[in-house]
Amino acid sequence: MAEDLIISTAHKKQERYGVLIPQVQSLVEDEPDLIANLANIAAALKQTFNFLWVGFYRVDNQELVLGPFQGPVACTRIPFGKGVCGTAWRDQKTIIVPDVDEFPGHIACSSASRSEIVVPIALEGVVKWILDVDSETTHYFDDDDRAGLEEIANIIESHL
Ligand code: SME
Repeated sequence: MAEDLIISTAHKKQERYGVLIPQVQSLVEDEPDLIANLANIAAALKQTFNFLWVGFYRVDNQELVLGPFQGPVACTRIPFGKGVCGTAWRDQKTIIVPDVDEFPGHIACSSASRSEIVVPIALEGVVKWILDVDSETTHYFDDDDRAGLEEIANIIESHL
């Protein structure tokens, strides 16, 4: 990928993901280093959507450890089954939390976070990473985010 990201300013999220995803694809194709790619994907998502926080947690034994991200300083370790991230890891499925105050056990890394989406990234059925995105607005994330972020997770999975 060229260093300059093409950013869609379209109102529809689906269109923004449509511009971003081919660039994520070429980014991952051109560079074999996973950490470098995750760092750039976090930056590209931040640049495109200006999310409060976007980043990755890596599965390490029985906990998640903070990986590349964009946004405020965050919790470094999350146990299996804890918080939204640990729950998405345990259940191996995407979780959308419209209001973090209504998710029992939500881990508040930033008091500004009001809603969240977490997408697991797996290799041969085993979760290896978690993609976590936070918004300052309640009810921010919808099926367009689910589809777009799951597509990005699929691209990462095919290069693990
Ligand atoms: N809220 C997450 C913790 C990670 S931060 O949002 C970056 C959770 O409940 O797992």
